[in-house]
Amino acid sequence: MNKKPTNKLPIAVLISGTGRTLKNLIEKIEADQLDCEIKIVIASSKQASGTQFAEMANIPIQIIERSQYETSEGFSESVFQECKIAGVQFVVMAGYLQLLHIPDAFKNKVINIHPSLIPAFCGKGFYGQHVHESALNYGVKISGCTVHFVNNEYDNGPVILQKVVPVLENDTPQTLNDRVFYDAECLAYPEALQLIAEKRVKVVGRKVHIS
Ligand code: GRF
Repeated sequence: MNKKPTNKLPIAVLISGTGRTLKNLIEKIEADQLDCEIKIVIASSKQASGTQFAEMANIPIQIIERSQYETSEGFSESVFQECKIAGVQFVVMAGYLQLLHIPDAFKNKVINIHPSLIPAFCGKGFYGQHVHESALNYGVKISGCTVHFVNNEYDNGPVILQKVVPVLENDTPQTLNDRVFYDAECLAYPEALQLIAEKRVKVVGRKVHIS
């Protein structure tokens, strides 16, 4: 990926799990391959072990749990309030398992990566190994990942980019998961974010134009 030197985009990274995606983004930033600055990591649970990568990189962490809020709206407001306080312009979901209500100020400023080629194997309940199990049970010959804007429905916003991997004869959900993650996601997410940092991504209706 050839990147244009540009001002660093201040982002928040939202996690729920092991934080492999967060680790990859931190590595790309430290290698000067991605013009972003992670201002804050917000985890949806104390059990999210991925916070260790934020600690190691001296990135502030906030834990905001859905169970502490009566409504999904109140929970979402709290997440975006923390983002504003941290000076964040863009929000990056990285294995984040909570549905958020996006306030107007963050419309088309929240992205997610999903481990399939949307619109296949996506929506409520399609997360983690379930996605790869479903792809294998269906018998698809290719899979991959999708980086997309987040709207108020699961895996539904405009698609920014997709990367494809083959599905092999002896794949298990775990081997397919690893191939999608390392061969597709680890490249696609930094690439999409860099395009955003360079202001080359424009949303028109439900389509994304890249200049
Ligand atoms: C990946 O499969 C990604 O597509 C999905 O969450 C998984 C990564 O979680 N959004 P983590 O970064 O290992 O916590």
